[in-house]
Amino acid sequence: MPENSVTAAADLVVRGLTVSVEDKEILRGVDLSVPAGEIHALMGPNGSGKSTLAYTLSGHPKYTVTAGSATFGGEDLLALPADARARLGVFLCFQYPTAIPGVTTVNFMRAALRAQGKEMPAREFIRRLNEEMAALKIDESFRARYINDGFSGGEKKRAEVLQMAMLRPRLSILDETDSGLDVDALRTVANGVNRLAGPDMSVLVITHYPRILEYLKPDRVHVLNQGRIVTSGGPELARQIESQGYEPIIGPVAAQTAHSHTSLTGVVAEAQA
Ligand SMILES: Nc1ncnc2c1ncn2[C@@H]1O[C@H](COP(=O)(O)OP(=O)(O)OP(=O)(O)O)[C@@H](O)[C@H]1O
Ligand SMILES: [Mg+2]
Repeated sequence: MPENSVTAAADLVVRGLTVSVEDKEILRGVDLSVPAGEIHALMGPNGSGKSTLAYTLSGHPKYTVTAGSATFGGEDLLALPADARARLGVFLCFQYPTAIPGVTTVNFMRAALRAQGKEMPAREFIRRLNEEMAALKIDESFRARYINDGFSGGEKKRAEVLQMAMLRPRLSILDETDSGLDVDALRTVANGVNRLAGPDMSVLVITHYPRILEYLKPDRVHVLNQGRIVTSGGPELARQIESQGYEPIIGPVAAQTAHSHTSLTGVVAEAQA
């Protein structure tokens, strides 16, 4: 780690965040604080706006903020372009990582570090890359493969966490990084995150399953529904959701709407019959 890098975590404070995508309002006043060094989980039905929040915080240009604020360490995140937010130490593990044919994993990692002013001598870079790959149980052959190109779902998620481990962000947002991982990979990835979490890195973990939270042990669990945080609690909230679903929290009608994609599947099946 170069001496000049800022390594301490900082407070993330989101207030009344309202966000539209293609003129459709998705987030409707999100209030969320992740104090420096804490691990918070964000849960919520499909389509509730979790990824939208993650993309908005990382500065994806498709998302238009129409009201509210988001600060990290007191800095106005929303005033900064995506690359400046990354340099500030905000990192997003994508729900759907994209392949970049022609760019090897090793070159991608080097370019990512360079873009954030975290370059290091070649030997140190290779040593650290090998170390982090071993910790994440990623085979050495992946260094020379094009990033995410033909990677399995679980391999892509591990490549995201490898990038996180190399960049050492101050806030990591993990968007369903646990989805699609087998039980052993889940433990490996969770250990990889745990190793970095703490005074140097806060974590916002978006998930549908309490299992990863058994490893990451969140300080708080928040539930997003229809673009708003509707409840927050301790880790027991995740277990309650697992056993009882969202209905006790958001009500039967809302839960029904949230699962309308399930009934749509039924309609399609019927139409095909
Ligand atoms: N580019 C877009 N155009 C139109 N609607 C969009 C766009 N991006 C997101 N949305 C809509 O915004 C809503 C929230 O999507 P988002 O991906 O944030 O949900 P999510 O909570 O991450 O869901 P999941 O659990 O399925 O990942 C959805 O209804 C989605 O269809
Ligand atoms: Mg999502």
